[in-house]
Amino acid sequence: MIVAIDGPAASGKGTLARRIAGHYRLPHLDTGLLYRGVGQIMRDRGFPLDNVEIAAAIAENLDLADLDAEKLRTREAGEAASVVAAHGPVRRALLDLQRAFAAQAGGAVLDGRDIGTVIAPGAEAKLFVTASPQERARRRFRELVGRGECADTDEALAAVLADIARRDERDSGRADAPLTVAADAVTLDTTDLGIEQAVAAALAAVEARRR
Ligand code: DC
Repeated sequence: MIVAIDGPAASGKGTLARRIAGHYRLPHLDTGLLYRGVGQIMRDRGFPLDNVEIAAAIAENLDLADLDAEKLRTREAGEAASVVAAHGPVRRALLDLQRAFAAQAGGAVLDGRDIGTVIAPGAEAKLFVTASPQERARRRFRELVGRGECADTDEALAAVLADIARRDERDSGRADAPLTVAADAVTLDTTDLGIEQAVAAALAAVEARRR
């Protein structure tokens, strides 16, 4: 069984993907880490993020084993990821790796922006996880404050909300594989749900789609 989970930044899709993968004992790939990895390497080496050729070459040579999830969960890496993810050649360079992961015997859970539409259009279960921009900003803000990455002030919260709005616009507005709801996806709005309620709703949606 392939479970495709898409949604905007800080919608809770990563948490749900991990929980669903745990429930079914399936391997899980957070595909945002691939784009974050490319963006972070560009930054570390001082390349401008709009250099498509270099970004594509980095994507082509990206090794999953080298990606440090903890280091890549920063605001800067997310922002850089969103920029390089708009380059078509970068997306194409990361396609085979993601499709191979999805094709593992026994199945897999993948989360991202284009899993149900481009990476695994034949996935048995597709979820589109969303929440209001204000709620997503609050969640991301609490996470950043908790990690000591951002001050606990109204101004900082407003800055996170602005980040989220910019990411939404870039991820939805790009020409190549924009963030859209697959026709056969179940939409799960987690704005008013706690984690356990959201997990229960997600599992129920997957169960309903299992063949
Ligand atoms: O899910 P995330 O915040 O880690 O993703 C970081 C950026 O990567 C996001 O702004 C857009 C891009 N991305 C993408 O274009 N396609 C995916 N499948 C996953 C992420």
